[in-house]
Amino acid sequence: MLRYLTAGESHGLCLTAILEGVPSGLKLEPGSVDRELKRRQLGYGRGARMTSIEVDRVEILSGLRFGRTIGSPITLRIPNRDQSIEKLPPVTRPRPGHADLGGALKYNTLDARNILERASARETAARVAVGAVAKRLLSEFGVECFSHVVRLGGVDAKPQALSFQRIRSRAEVSPLRCADARAEERMIRAIDRAKRAGDTVGGTVEVVALNVPPGLGSHVHYDRKLDGRIAGALMSIQAIKAVEIGEGVNVSNLFGSQLHDQIYYSKGKGFYRKTHRAGGLEGGITIGGPLIARIHMKPLSTLRKPMMSVDLETKKPFQATVERSDVSAVPAAGVVAEGVLAFELANAFLEKFGGDSLGELKRNVQGYLRQVERF
Ligand SMILES: Cc1cc2nc3c(=O)[nH]c(=O)nc-3n(C[C@H](O)[C@H](O)[C@H](O)COP(=O)(O)O)c2cc1C
Repeated sequence: MLRYLTAGESHGLCLTAILEGVPSGLKLEPGSVDRELKRRQLGYGRGARMTSIEVDRVEILSGLRFGRTIGSPITLRIPNRDQSIEKLPPVTRPRPGHADLGGALKYNTLDARNILERASARETAARVAVGAVAKRLLSEFGVECFSHVVRLGGVDAKPQALSFQRIRSRAEVSPLRCADARAEERMIRAIDRAKRAGDTVGGTVEVVALNVPPGLGSHVHYDRKLDGRIAGALMSIQAIKAVEIGEGVNVSNLFGSQLHDQIYYSKGKGFYRKTHRAGGLEGGITIGGPLIARIHMKPLSTLRKPMMSVDLETKKPFQATVERSDVSAVPAAGVVAEGVLAFELANAFLEKFGGDSLGELKRNVQGYLRQVERF
């Protein structure tokens, strides 16, 4: 079983993650984690801060020897460029849409900085680092996770006719991680309009895992159902307010005959589906093929347009204003979601197949895949 904890504040010394359960023998270079960290920092609609102050680099402090995992906990450390946490002023004015007020009441403090430093999406850098290790493990089995933006600022992308590989390669070179170039132009205009108005925009990202074997997760208990686990994990990403698997909320609009992915069999291929409306999961178990989820991100809470709030000390109303804010972080949320999905899948892999070394895990996976082939 894989597990991890992260620690660290937005303006503290660093973010740290300790990841346990990765089998021994997996090749892991800091560069493969840095690539993911860099992808998280990109995206049209973010301020200069992301490209200047926070150029993230990981240090792998434990769990590796000669570039390979040794089975012990892996410590990932990402130093913060801005370490001014002790110098920053207190925050007595809770911002709507942030954890400030709930956190201040809960932890009995008039200084909401104690809350926002940790609630900040800076924490997602640590999750992306963990996800990068999970991706590295999954790649040994041909499983790949990617994301692309399908809605932003009220503009819908329509890349349906493209293969997943085309969507993926287009998204990777697009400033908004969007595979539909025409929609992307309109999304960029929506971001620019919101920026001029001092406002922010949200959006929707599709997160896909390719080549997932059938049989991960289980139908037997609520906490073993993989759809529930994946939805919970994706929902825990900052600003994500809804998660869909496959057809998602649209299932309630369809007849059963329009929705369910019919089952086919051919000698070389085994069992297969021509459609993927279930998102690759039935009964909490993967069915083989792509796993498809969508995350819905709210517009960022920190905006230049003033919002009403009440000072924690004086109890007087005021209008919360900020000088500068990102307009959208939807593409970045997609990269975070890839890492989060990769972790859940890697965990499900290890649960099903076990193995303390990569060799053992591979033997177990191969044995199972042969069983499926011969079924
Ligand atoms: C990658 C990423 C970047 C974010 N950047 C910002 C930001 O610049 N400004 C902001 O107000 N919220 C940002 N957020 C969202 C807040 O962290 C989040 O809304 C806040 O912590 C409250 O949590 P909740 O929205 O999940 O309830 C970001 C979220 C993600 C995933």
